[in-house]
Amino acid sequence: MNKCNRTKAIFAGSFDPITNGHLDVIRRASKLFAELQIGILINPNKEPLFTLEERVKLIEDCTADLDNIKVVAFDGLLIKYCEENGIDVLVRGIRSAADVDYELQMAHMNKELDSSIETIFLPSNTKFSFISSSLIKEVLSFGADIENLVPEQALKELKIKIEKKEI
Ligand code: PNS
Repeated sequence: MNKCNRTKAIFAGSFDPITNGHLDVIRRASKLFAELQIGILINPNKEPLFTLEERVKLIEDCTADLDNIKVVAFDGLLIKYCEENGIDVLVRGIRSAADVDYELQMAHMNKELDSSIETIFLPSNTKFSFISSSLIKEVLSFGADIENLVPEQALKELKIKIEKKEI
């Protein structure tokens, strides 16, 4: 498959932790761009379970078989990071209509901040469309089996958090 002529893209999010839905978007986007950065960002509206360092390590482990992925963590404006690092595409996944308002609002704001940077939406695979990191943590805290919903490495780390009573 030919890659898009825009070469550097970023898939940004909180990834607290990475889910199979995220990983599916990462795998598909990595085929479209020469380089795909995974940007782990502070979402001021969310209290994270995993530290930035833990999330970086987890995503690196889960994407070790992909050769054009770079995992980065930073704070501040996403658009500023893109401008400083030559990134011209923002990739976001859309799970359902419920995501659209929030995603469009962010896409429009990012476009307002820098009109040269495009947002591209990838519809999530239907089998992952109900998954969110928050819901994963909630059901896990009540003892549910989430084996098919997160990568093996994330499952292992989540179980450690449960043992330490951090969830
Ligand atoms: O996975 P999330 O939590 O929905 O991702 C949201 C995220 C982190 C991509 C968004 O909050 C973000 O871009 N934060 C960085 C600060 C910023 O640029 N805010 C303006 C967004 S229009």
